[in-house]
Parts: sequence; structure tokens; C-alpha cells
Amino acid sequence: MTQIVHLSDLHLRSSNKPNMTSELSYSNRKVEALVRRIDQHFPHAHVVVTGDVTDSGTPTSVEAAYAILEPWLRPDRLSVVPGNHDCGTKGGVWIPGRKRNLIARFARSTPQKYPWVKMLGNIVLIGLDSTADTPGQLDEQSLLGDRRYRELLTPIERALLLTARNSIVQLAIPLLARAARRIQFAVGRLGDDQLFKLAQILVAPEMRKRIPVVIMHHHPRVHEKVKGKFISLADSKALMNILEGQTTGKAVTVLFGHRHHQDSWEEGGTRFVAAPSSVEVFQGVLRFRTLNFNENGFVSEEWHTMPWDEITGRTQSWAKSLS
Ligand SMILES: [Fe+2]
Ligand SMILES: [Fe+2]
Repeated sequence: MTQIVHLSDLHLRSSNKPNMTSELSYSNRKVEALVRRIDQHFPHAHVVVTGDVTDSGTPTSVEAAYAILEPWLRPDRLSVVPGNHDCGTKGGVWIPGRKRNLIARFARSTPQKYPWVKMLGNIVLIGLDSTADTPGQLDEQSLLGDRRYRELLTPIERALLLTARNSIVQLAIPLLARAARRIQFAVGRLGDDQLFKLAQILVAPEMRKRIPVVIMHHHPRVHEKVKGKFISLADSKALMNILEGQTTGKAVTVLFGHRHHQDSWEEGGTRFVAAPSSVEVFQGVLRFRTLNFNENGFVSEEWHTMPWDEITGRTQSWAKSLS
């Protein structure tokens, strides 16, 4: 039996402090408490964090995330994938180098090249970067260097950017464009290269006896339950075609986060599992899932809760698992 602890959307910050959304406040202290409890109760499980590890990907918040998750920085204990909040300011403005820095910092536990593959017993864990190839992504380039990004700006904004020597102006223009909803990288995209490689992985002969588990940040399909197209995955149809078309291995499980809503369903032979934010207090508790797999595939999922006192920021006694 292989067990996975599914965490998501930790929104860690440079220090423990309130957040704009009160449910996500004091995320650092909450994750510290989760790490202690998971070590106590699930010392042998593999922990996955499906994106938004940090709230804005700043170097100091990445260092805080590194320090808090440090006890788990081994390939067999932890895997993380990036989310839109790891790429820039407030999940909406891309800042060059932020995502790359996060990925490099977690290299002790998670491969840096996407898609990546990890063997965990009978499970093949496949990591996808759903913030790849998004309009506005400027990971390696300046704001002006990205053609797709320039096309999203008005002629006036473009002219201002071209003449701006001031970094505040360079940041303000994309913020304005975002406010007008012309730039929105909360929409995810896997990109053709990653999708092609995923299809190859899933039909590889080595997969025949193994259980594929895909982890990513964005919601993998434009499902009828999804409200608001701005947070979906742009190439979800292509992903669904690959998942439905793969027949070599056993049924695929897809773990993800992003919307901060929990969900779990089976469709076309694939199991989809959405995690809420692991730092969001829901009815007075923090919650997360564990998923159990045997040699034939997914067996069961269980919820675990930890009461959280928002006033003192302290955990109370460890609640019994809900299953
Ligand atoms: Fe999030
Ligand atoms: Fe997100």
C-alpha cells in the first residue's frame, strides 16, 4: 500500500502574518503545525503540494517555505509543483525568475525539468507545470521581450512600456492591464511540449504494471462545476484527450488545487481529486486528504482535520481522522 498526503495552496509568506483573505492568514504557522502532525501520523507517506506553495514567490517567501518544509526535502518524502502565485505578485503579475527560484530551491526533493517522473513503489508520480507557456510569462525575458504579452497591451501601454526606464512604471502597466482583465495568468496552460511528453510517458511499456498519479496546480478541465473561465486550464481538452486515450497502464489519478475547493470524481476511467487550500480554516479546522493505492490502483481517500484557533493561532488537540 502506498499512501499520498495531498496538500495544496499553502500561500506561505516571508513571515507569519495576516493575509488579505482572512482564511489564509498565518499560513506559515499553520503549515508548521501540519508538518508536525503529518510527521507524527503519516511518517511514511509521500507528501505532494499541488502549487501556490508561496503567496507571491518572493525570494524571502521561498526561503520561509524552504525552512518550514526542510524536514521533508527528500525525493521519497515530498514533491511540489508550481502554481500561479509562485510566479509573481498576488497570482496575477509575472515577475521574472520567481518560479525558477522556487523550483531550484526545492531541487533536493523534486526534479527541476517538467514534466518529471518519480517512482514510488508501484506508483509513477508525474509532475506537470500548469503555469507553463502562459501569455504574460516572462521567466527568462524582460517585459518587452515577450511578443504574446505585448499583444495583450493597448498601443498606449505598449508605448509607455517601451519608453519606461523606471521599474515601478514597468510593474504598474501590467497591473493596469490585469485590472482590465486583459492579462490573467491565473489561467493555466501546460503547453504542447509538456502534453506531448505526458502522452509518451503514459504509453511507455514500463507503465504497464504501474499506477500513474499526475500532480499539477490548475483544474485539469473546464468542468461544469467550474465557475469563471479565468481560472481554468487553457489546454484542458488536449489533456483530457491524452488521459482518455491512454490504455497502456492502469487508471490515472490526477491531483490538483488552485480553486481552493475540494472535489473528487471519476470520469472516463480517470480519478480527479481537487484539494482545498491546506491553510484555509473551514468550520474551525484545517483539513487535508490522504489517498491510498494498492498494486491495482486507487483504493480509498480519507479526510483528516486539525482544529485551529484563529485567535491564538494555535492548534488544539489532534482530531480523529474523518473517513
Ligand atoms: Fe491558491
Ligand atoms: Fe492558484
